[in-house]
Amino acid sequence: AIDIATLRSRTGYITLDEGFGNTGACESKITYIDGEKGKLFYRGVPIETLAENSTFIETAYLIIYGELPTRRQMSDFSQRVLRNANIHESMMHFFDGGFPFSAHPMAILSALLNSLGSYYPNMVTNEREHDLEYFDDAAALLISKVRTIVAMSYRMKNGLPLIYPKRDLGYSQNFLHMMFSEPYHEYYPHDDITKALDLILLLHADHEQNCSTSTVRIVASSGANLFASVSAGVCALWGPLHGGANTQVIKMLEEIHRNGGDVNKAIEDAKMGKKRLMGFGHRIYKTYDPRAMILKEAAQKVLKVVKSSDPVLDIAQTLAEKARNDDYFIERNLYPNVDFYSGIIMKAIGVPTEMFTAMFAIGRMPGWIAHWKEVAERVKGRITRPRQIYQGEIDVDYMRMRDRE
Ligand code: ACO
Repeated sequence: AIDIATLRSRTGYITLDEGFGNTGACESKITYIDGEKGKLFYRGVPIETLAENSTFIETAYLIIYGELPTRRQMSDFSQRVLRNANIHESMMHFFDGGFPFSAHPMAILSALLNSLGSYYPNMVTNEREHDLEYFDDAAALLISKVRTIVAMSYRMKNGLPLIYPKRDLGYSQNFLHMMFSEPYHEYYPHDDITKALDLILLLHADHEQNCSTSTVRIVASSGANLFASVSAGVCALWGPLHGGANTQVIKMLEEIHRNGGDVNKAIEDAKMGKKRLMGFGHRIYKTYDPRAMILKEAAQKVLKVVKSSDPVLDIAQTLAEKARNDDYFIERNLYPNVDFYSGIIMKAIGVPTEMFTAMFAIGRMPGWIAHWKEVAERVKGRITRPRQIYQGEIDVDYMRMRDRE
């Protein structure tokens, strides 16, 4: 076998940057993060401004098309989203025995988003120019239907009758309706609950080259259609180190509760490196995650509205308070991140923990769509094809099976 030094001399120089922590893989005009100052901008607009003045749907337009919509553009976009709220009637069969009750919402979501494309063959040709021609329809369709699919998967898994979206409800309110209304009992959420959900979606709408968005771009770079690309994004988001972290926050809080609710012990364990506090710290933000700042306020409002008596939510508040005054967390810039407060809000409004990551996917859809578009519109785009530093052997003999024992 050839030794590694010889092999390296043959392949030439390759940069090793495991996890691409330091590699700019593309140029983009969508989102800017200043991790030192704790700033996040969508198309240049500060996230705080959007949280205060905009909605998830208007922000989705901004992210996808690069500028805030005029009144007319907003109305057209909202109408397109509304018209697409139902899923094709034959897709309903997926919720009627197509998946076992135990199926994870993310498995259902990635499968259905990809198959959704096959119901719209005019939009999915894998021919760049053609797919771009139908982009406006496909984008609005995905933003609308991802929400319906998530709500339907919740109802299926809980043996509840499937509820259709209503024409007169806004995006987030329609989602809450599809989740929680009963055939003879409509669910009318408090405004603070609808606003908190809309904020969660808005604040998750894009975050530059995270794992799922990079995945969408990589798939798109091969020329694959929008539906296939965002379906791959869902798979990447599923992992506990990415979108799955919000689920881990509640699991950790429940474990503290099961062990007698001793918050000090959880903090001491984290300081001794036994267990990390889930929902604390961030790779890029070395100060407060600006999204967490906004959601913290929303969470306080929601907890007041639901008058929660859930001990897990009390534990969350105590934990955040104690960590805020502890030198270990102060010195290491460990603040609660967006997952901490989005988890608290979702738990308080009754979304089961298993659904949290699928909720994240609804929010991230505009970002994935915008990145797909950016890749598809490149004049001279190359397929993404990283190299590797091979560490194995070469020229190994084939040994026959009988000689291998
Ligand atoms: N709890 C306790 N200690 C922590 C935590 C935590 N959550 N996070 C980091 N630390 C400590 C580390 O032990 C280390 O201490 P040391 O200097 O004494 O060795 C120091 O802080 C720096 O830690 P790093 O691992 O270098 O920080 P990094 O930036 O690589 O990690 C990460 C960021 C992965 C988010 C980390 O903070 C973590 O694991 N947090 C918990 C999981 C989580 O909430 N993930 C969601 C991220 S947000 C999102 O994905 C939307």
